[in-house]
Amino acid sequence: MPVLKESFTGYYRWHAKRMLRDVGVARAARIGKVLVGVALLERLTPEVAYVYYIFVGKDHRRQRVGAALLRDALDRFQRQRSRVVYAVVGADNRASIGLFRSQGFRSVARKELSWKDGGLGAWGLRSRMYIIHGERLYGRRLDGQ
Ligand SMILES: CC(C)(COP(=O)(O)OP(=O)(O)OC[C@H]1O[C@@H](n2cnc3c(N)ncnc32)[C@H](O)[C@@H]1OP(=O)(O)O)[C@@H](O)C(=O)NCCC(=O)NCCS
Repeated sequence: MPVLKESFTGYYRWHAKRMLRDVGVARAARIGKVLVGVALLERLTPEVAYVYYIFVGKDHRRQRVGAALLRDALDRFQRQRSRVVYAVVGADNRASIGLFRSQGFRSVARKELSWKDGGLGAWGLRSRMYIIHGERLYGRRLDGQ
């Protein structure tokens, strides 16, 4: 998949390829017949949703494709009554941070209470989020609290 290859290198390319096979839902954005972006989505629990990856082909970046994929994911999770959605972003990935912030996500501090207590922490689920060194957890509540 060319959009995946040009979006990631090294570990991320390997992991995104693996998740493409294993993930619960893969959503594609197309312009005409051309696949221009993909979102890999999972519900970690009925209440907690997770965006594993969003990637957009180089020629189609900054055209709101990533934002459309993320809004589609949020609508989907909301319909399924998830209460909170998380994503992991590289600390120096400005595009990714900008994308998630533009859709209401914020950085989640390690010390925050769990989402059940009104915060955005979900540390019991961290092992399923594959957070590696240099990455930060971002989250957004979907239940209006
Ligand atoms: C991150 C990525 C998916 C963004 O996709 P995109 O289609 O270019 O993003 P959009 O055009 O929808 O941008 C939505 C918002 O994100 C932010 N944004 C996007 N690219 C940005 C950049 N290069 N620098 C800063 N902010 C950026 C902006 O706030 C933008 O809103 P604006 O256009 O009103 O300024 C894309 O850059 C990409 O595929 N990167 C490689 C893969 C990756 O790192 N994915 C994220 C981690 S899984």
